Amino acid sequence: MAGVIIDGKKVASQVRARVAEQVRELVALGVTPGLAVVLVGDDPASQSYVNMKERDCREVGIRSFDTRLTARTSQSELEEVIDRFNADPDVHGILLQLPLPAGLDAESAIARISADKDVDGFHPMSIGRLVRGLPAPHACTPEGVMELLRAYDIDPAGKRAVVVGRSVLVGKPMALLLIEANATVTVCHSRTRDLTAVCREADILVAAIGRPEMIDERYVKPGAVVIDVGINRVERGMVGDVAFDRVAPIASAITPVPGGVGPMTRAILMVNTVDAAQAAARR
Ligand code: GUN
Repeated sequence: MAGVIIDGKKVASQVRARVAEQVRELVALGVTPGLAVVLVGDDPASQSYVNMKERDCREVGIRSFDTRLTARTSQSELEEVIDRFNADPDVHGILLQLPLPAGLDAESAIARISADKDVDGFHPMSIGRLVRGLPAPHACTPEGVMELLRAYDIDPAGKRAVVVGRSVLVGKPMALLLIEANATVTVCHSRTRDLTAVCREADILVAAIGRPEMIDERYVKPGAVVIDVGINRVERGMVGDVAFDRVAPIASAITPVPGGVGPMTRAILMVNTVDAAQAAARR
């Protein structure tokens, strides 16, 4: 049984084309969507993410307002920058690139962002609304996974979904989105007993652990859909949390790394920014 290899690059480019069309409509109404990206410090991975986000903005017609601050920036200086973007009517979304350098309090900086301008879905208001089943911006990576499932007509309703990982960036919001899509959801983590057996019950298995190629064929029920959120740099390059070559032959569909979930995260950031601009235009 050869499974489908889910093409995240293709779906992400379709999503960006849809966003570009919505941007054109907003511009015709006199509103150019704007995204402020705030990067603190000089973490090379964060710098490269931020550069790619700027490129995406240019492609879809979103104006980007970027601020780069040194690692010695104080909490109050960071919050002043956030306040300035909160007050700027040309800025519809604010993204604070994480992680922040040591000494800065990410929780209070995230809470400082106006909930209307949260495009990461990390604001306490957004998470609270998601828990309550109300409309809210969704965290980009888990929403990217949901978009991939929709693009491949994989309906989670009634299925057993297992999420491995309970991070606030991915695992927890992923579980909530799968519940909203009517899956029966189990969340596993480092203290889960008999992880292999729990994973083998999954019709949809989402790996978001951060351990290179940990999920092999023993964890996967034949015919399952396997979504790999992992990005791990190892000697021979970038690998996911799933041992792709061992799992692909038994999965009905699987995301590769790279080219699976990764491109979707950035595409959803563009979606969330345009959604925020549309909401602002209606106010
Ligand atoms: N760092 C790693 N992933 C993310 C993300 O989705 N958003 C932000 N703001 N920072 C990140």
